[in-house]
Order: sequence, then structure tokens, then C-alpha cells
Amino acid sequence: MEGLSDERGRMGARGIFITLEGADGCGKSTQAALLADALAARGRDVVRLREPGGTPISEKIRALLLDPANAEMAPECELLLYEASRAQLVRQVIEPALARGAVVLCDRYYDSTYAYQAGGRGLDETLVNRSNLLGSCGCVPDRTLVLDLDPAEAFARATAGGVDRMEAEGLAFQERVRGAYLRLAAGEPCRVHVVDASGKADEVTARLLAAVADLWE
Ligand code: TYD
Repeated sequence: MEGLSDERGRMGARGIFITLEGADGCGKSTQAALLADALAARGRDVVRLREPGGTPISEKIRALLLDPANAEMAPECELLLYEASRAQLVRQVIEPALARGAVVLCDRYYDSTYAYQAGGRGLDETLVNRSNLLGSCGCVPDRTLVLDLDPAEAFARATAGGVDRMEAEGLAFQERVRGAYLRLAAGEPCRVHVVDASGKADEVTARLLAAVADLWE
């Protein structure tokens, strides 16, 4: 997204912004915790966040978004709620943390919106990219790690304990989400890295650490 890169250039010196992405059930939350611990053990000031959420306002929006009772939610409403939650998180937490030099590790960010609302729901890509520009307030990740797992395996894992409103969309939706992530990585290979999420948790963490190592050089 050209507009986002331009904004990034104007932001000046700051900490490091890493986002974790992937379809539901890829092991992302476990890996976010392990990666945060590994970076903290290396002496980094790590701020771990998840989307949607991370501020009182964003958590209220999260509850609206994931509640299976809101089955009638229009795709446009869904898109704008994710963006609203994000804008609050960026202004209230991410920008201040980056300004003081922290490593911000965010479990999902605007690539989720591309993968789920454009890829999964089929909303117009240009419209989603423009919405992402607004919702992110121009704050672009330095590195985005896409955890990639066989969609059927990931979906079975994600739905083992019940489904939220997004997971209720089913396996074909998750396959479209995965396809969108792979397209993103092909289009932005410097920022977006696909990481194999199969195998033992510590092996996956080692792959993730290797995929961010150059950010400190
Ligand atoms: P969550 O329970 O946090 O799932 P996960 O642990 O897989 O991240 O629920 C977040 C859901 O919201 C998940 O299904 C992905 C979806 N989502 C979007 O559709 N668009 C977005 O912009 C974001 C941030 C998340």
C-alpha cells in the first residue's frame, strides 16, 4: 500500500513494530506469548497486544464483533468496527509505545482486515486498503509474520471448543483467508514473511525469531 509507506517515512525514529497473522487456529496466540517472552529475555521492552482489543474502547468493539448473536452484522459495519478498534489502539497504545522505543508485538493488525474482509467476505480490495489506511492512522508494521498451517487442521483446532461469529463462517472462508495472506506475502515480500506453523511450538518460535532477526541489525 503506497499511501501507508509514505506515512511511515514521515514518522521518524521509533521502536520496532511486529505483527503476527494467520487464519483461525494457526497457533498465533501461543506463538505471540512465546515470541514476546523470547524478545523480553533478550532485554527488549516488549508491548504485547491483540486485535481487535487492547484499549477499553477497543475491547467493547471486540465484544460486538465476536458475539455470535450479531449474525445480522453487515460486512461494511464489520469492516468499520475493526478499523475503529484499530484506530483507538494505534493512537492510545501503539504510537506512544513506539515513540519510547519499545518493541510492539501485535496479534493481528490490518493484514487481518485484508485477509478476512477482502479475502474472506469478498469486500472490494481497494476499499479495504483505503479503510486500513484510515484505521491504522498510517502506522505500518516493520515486519509481519504469517503463520501458515493446513487450513483443515487449523480450523479443527480453532473450533474444538466452540465457534465465535467469524469462525462460524466455516472452512471455505478460512481457505479464502489463507489465500489472501499468501497473496499479500507475494506482493510485499520485505515486510510480510510466511512462517511454517507446523511442528512443535518451540520450533515455530525459533522460525519466528529467525524471521525478525534482521530488524535489529
Ligand atoms: P480471536 O478470538 O482473537 O481469534 P484469533 O485468536 O484467531 O486471533 O478473534 C478475532 C477474529 O476476528 C478472528 O476470526 C479474525 C477476525 N478479524 C477480522 O476478521 N478482521 C480484522 O481486521 C481482525 C483484526 C480480526
